[in-house]
Amino acid sequence: MPTRVTVCKGCCCGNVEKGNSEVPIDFLKNSWKENDIGKQVKLTISGCLGPCSMNNVCLLTTEEGRIWLGELHELTHYSALVDWACNVARNEGNTELPEILVSHRFEPKKTTTDLPTIDFN
Ligand code: FES
Repeated sequence: MPTRVTVCKGCCCGNVEKGNSEVPIDFLKNSWKENDIGKQVKLTISGCLGPCSMNNVCLLTTEEGRIWLGELHELTHYSALVDWACNVARNEGNTELPEILVSHRFEPKKTTTDLPTIDFN
C-alpha cells in the first residue's frame, strides 16, 4: 500500500465562509509536482473525513497505520506536510513527523469510510 496524504476539503475544512482557514490546494499540488514525489506518496483531496471540529484535517496513511492531523491553519503546517512527504519518498522507512506537526496529531471519534476523493497523481 503506497503512502498517502489525504487532505480534507469538505463541508468545514477549508470553508472560509464558515470562518475556517483555507486549504492551499494549489500549493500542495505544485509542491508534489516540483518535488516529483507522486509515485511514492499519493496526494488526495477528499470530501469530509468526519472529524470536522478539528478543521483543517489531514490523514496520513503509511505502512505503519494512520496519522490524523488537525487544526492546520497556516502555510507552515502544509509546508511541513510537503517536507514529510519528501522525506518519506526519499527514505521510505522514516515516517517521523516534523516537530511543528507533532502537536496537531489526534485520534478521531468519528470518521467517514466512503470518501469522495480526487487524486492528483
Ligand atoms: S470537512 Fe474536513 S473533516 Fe469534515
